[in-house]
Amino acid sequence: VNLDTLYRQVIMDHYKNPRNKGILDDSLTIDMNNPTCGDRIRLTLDIEDDIVKDAKFEGEGCSISMSSASMMTQAIKGKSLEKALKLSEIFSNMMLGKEYDEDIDLGDIESLQGVAKFPARIKCATLAWKAMEKGVNNSNE
Ligand code: FES
Ligand code: FES
Repeated sequence: VNLDTLYRQVIMDHYKNPRNKGILDDSLTIDMNNPTCGDRIRLTLDIEDDIVKDAKFEGEGCSISMSSASMMTQAIKGKSLEKALKLSEIFSNMMLGKEYDEDIDLGDIESLQGVAKFPARIKCATLAWKAMEKGVNNSNE
């Protein structure tokens, strides 16, 4: 199995079996859409003491956007806000094809690195991350 095939399997697994699908009651809600296609995500975050206690999402979108949302919620759960923003920065660098900090365990997120080769799809992959950044930044105010 080559890496591309493996990565594709991870992406499809998150698309078909999304982690953290749903809506958290009484929590921070962020709606975001991809203006290019109109696909949308609603992200709900439960933040306490600067920690992401829980994260859930729902939405309609392509396999890249939905699998990225699933991976993102998985990656930030239980993390500090600082760490969540750091992961977002790394992801954004990955999408731009830039170097990123390899010391941090990215888990399934790494499977999306191939998206960087397809500029039209980068907005799909970053949709959920943009929503998370917006939520975290608003919660700081
Ligand atoms: Fe998502 Fe084109 S905008 S594939
Ligand atoms: Fe719309 Fe990917 S095609 S988010």
